[in-house]
Amino acid sequence: MEFSKSRALQNRVHQIIPGGCHTYAKGDDQFPFLSPGFIQRGLGCHVWDVDGNEFIEYGMGCRAVSLGHAFKPIVDAAAEEMQRGANFTRPALIELQCAEEFLGMIRGAEMCKFSKDGSTATTAALKLSRAATGRDRIALCEDHPFFSIHDWFIGTTGINGGIPKAIQDLSLTFRFNDLDSVKHLFEKYPGEIACLIMEPAKYDDPQDHFLHRVQEQCEQHGAIFILDEMITGFRWSNGGAQETYDIVPDMSTFGKALANGFSLSALAGKKELLKASGIYHDQERVFALSTTHGAETHAMAAGMATMRYYQNHPVIDVLARQGTRLSCGIQNVIAEQGVEGYVSVFGKPCNLVFGTNDAEGNPSQGYRCLLMQELIKRGVLGPSLVISYSHSDADVDQTIEAFRGALAVYRRALSEGYGKFLVGRESQVVYQQFNEPAYRAQPGCMGSQV
Ligand SMILES: Cc1ncc(COP(=O)(O)O)c(C=O)c1O
Repeated sequence: MEFSKSRALQNRVHQIIPGGCHTYAKGDDQFPFLSPGFIQRGLGCHVWDVDGNEFIEYGMGCRAVSLGHAFKPIVDAAAEEMQRGANFTRPALIELQCAEEFLGMIRGAEMCKFSKDGSTATTAALKLSRAATGRDRIALCEDHPFFSIHDWFIGTTGINGGIPKAIQDLSLTFRFNDLDSVKHLFEKYPGEIACLIMEPAKYDDPQDHFLHRVQEQCEQHGAIFILDEMITGFRWSNGGAQETYDIVPDMSTFGKALANGFSLSALAGKKELLKASGIYHDQERVFALSTTHGAETHAMAAGMATMRYYQNHPVIDVLARQGTRLSCGIQNVIAEQGVEGYVSVFGKPCNLVFGTNDAEGNPSQGYRCLLMQELIKRGVLGPSLVISYSHSDADVDQTIEAFRGALAVYRRALSEGYGKFLVGRESQVVYQQFNEPAYRAQPGCMGSQV
């Protein structure tokens, strides 16, 4: 496999774009050196890089592309709307229509407001909570890796440069499926916590009605209960994970799969909370969400078409079925190749990820990078195993076959060391204060063949 065009472009891009792209998770440091550097186009679950290499892709735009790349009904809806103009001086009719479609699916929510990304939606939920309660502290689930690019969340991670300590001190953390950690916060900061925010589930389901118990705690202590459905929304079920687990949060946030990769996010919730950001009320006004591009018409058209597609096709069932098939197939190959305990596949079938351990059984970026490198060689581009509606049986089978070959290399690396097989530096974890030594200067062109 040849990556020479990618290499040349990578050398250029880091001169003018910090990180070389606009989403951290897509950065060079998250992938092996022998990776496609730039994607030229996608169709369904297949992508082609600038060197003409074809891959079956997993993750699909950080989980945004749930149906498939360039998915015709969605592209057509967006293209048609675009012909009528993208942005006006007064609201477009489609803003109302899209909100009605969305609230028809997220049954517990009474109002919603759209934006372009998830970070603004979660931050707006926090601001409304602080305004409603008159409290400054917020609490977030520390087992859930990402809620926002904004200070209230990034300040809790290892990469907290540029964030005032005073802001960091206002963010508290609790653990998933650990009710005592929630109770402890309310005991330690009585009357100070505005809201709790968490994903309804990550890789494990909530145990012992954890979500309901947390909600009770919030009610008891006058805090707002927020579910971040950026990942679970339209993947767990058509009504989000709140439908799956039968719970109605005070507010919830959506994005990603809402518009099959087009930029649309949503804050949904109770009227008594959201209306503070409106104009017809007598309470203190809250400037929660207002962006120039918030109601870009073709993103809304894509959102409506995507939501209708979910309602008229068995998307949730297909994601679950194909994810299960993929997971079972890879587990078999893991056993067959004798790497149980070193490589694992976990998560809900619609949202699978893989884990990589070294010979001592500790999580390892080096082995993760090696596995991705060996999968790429075999035509699979997967920082995760998050499936889409377009992943066919043949795609899944080909992926399992790619794992078979990649894990044979992994097994050898466990005894001989990954360094013998990995070309170039390893990937690095996101939340650390400084770059690893290998990333302290831009590397020169190191060759391009897999
Ligand atoms: C659970 C969760 N919440 C919020 C966000 C932020 O969304 P965005 O990247 O659109 O700002 C993400 C993004 O990965 C996420 O996974």
